[in-house]
Amino acid sequence: MPTKVILDVDTGTDDAVALMTAALSPDLELVGATSVNGNTSIEYTTENTLRVFDFIGMPEVPVYRGIDRPLVRMDVKRGMAARIHGDMLDLPPVSNGARLQPGNAVDWLIETYLASSGDIVLCPVGPLTNIAMAIVKEPRILEFIPEIVIMGGAHDHGNITASAEFNIWLDPEAARIVVNCGAPIRMVPLDATHRALVSTDDAARLRALGTPAGEAAARFVLQRIDGYDATQPMPRRGDALAAPVHDALAVCAIIDPSILTTEHIPVDVEVHADLSLGRTVCDFRFRSGKPGNVHFAMDADEPKFNRMLLEILGRSA
Ligand code: RIB
Ligand code: CA
Repeated sequence: MPTKVILDVDTGTDDAVALMTAALSPDLELVGATSVNGNTSIEYTTENTLRVFDFIGMPEVPVYRGIDRPLVRMDVKRGMAARIHGDMLDLPPVSNGARLQPGNAVDWLIETYLASSGDIVLCPVGPLTNIAMAIVKEPRILEFIPEIVIMGGAHDHGNITASAEFNIWLDPEAARIVVNCGAPIRMVPLDATHRALVSTDDAARLRALGTPAGEAAARFVLQRIDGYDATQPMPRRGDALAAPVHDALAVCAIIDPSILTTEHIPVDVEVHADLSLGRTVCDFRFRSGKPGNVHFAMDADEPKFNRMLLEILGRSA
């Protein structure tokens, strides 16, 4: 029986690979996608999400537009995101009938979870604004969310700052609400995604699949490798340049949890500091005296990740 999932995305290049992986995996049933402000503005993250489903021949996947700014922070500069994602993805305009659903993503999340039988995994891979808003507006949805699998956070090192990972940093107040909401949470941070890189050789194998998803994934992986090489070079795989495809790893972790190595620890989010704003504070030694609230991944299986991408993105709608 496929696992039902909802993706909350700030579509960008790795969100796009995550959306295609979730839509094409035989082990998942993608109930819908909700867009949020993040890598670029809500206009682009929404349009990009529609273009992804349209391009792979799955225009029927419902897309709902979400919140266009962080809960509290004003005028946030996106920094390197522009270099790795751009605004409009390199995909053709919608031509297969993909269209935006009426209504706001937050209301759809609430309605969908309250009407569910508690079997829809929630997978946010952008800033947690929509998720926090839904929880605050209707806390009863927490009774219906079996797990939240978040791409976000960092222990050893940040990316947008020395201390913080982009998704958490852009809306730290939202992230703090979500990590403390009480639902089962698995976090896929940079500590895991930076150990599951995709290389130029892997991109060539994706392109050789000859499927729309393989072509698009190759295109986005090469764009990411170029952006990472210019802003935060990653270790090479042999002679091949490589980059993380963060969001797709979170989706693969829903399909096969063994792809991650996790520890159940207390995690909270810094919302008051200057230098460490948005840091996921990981209490590996339980100094706070609190119980674990997050299964935090500190490692990932890179060969398995690349095998899964090839297998899933080699499928067509
Ligand atoms: O820090 C990586 C995360 O920020 C990814 O989700 C990427 O898409 C951006 O949203
Ligand atoms: Ca993202």
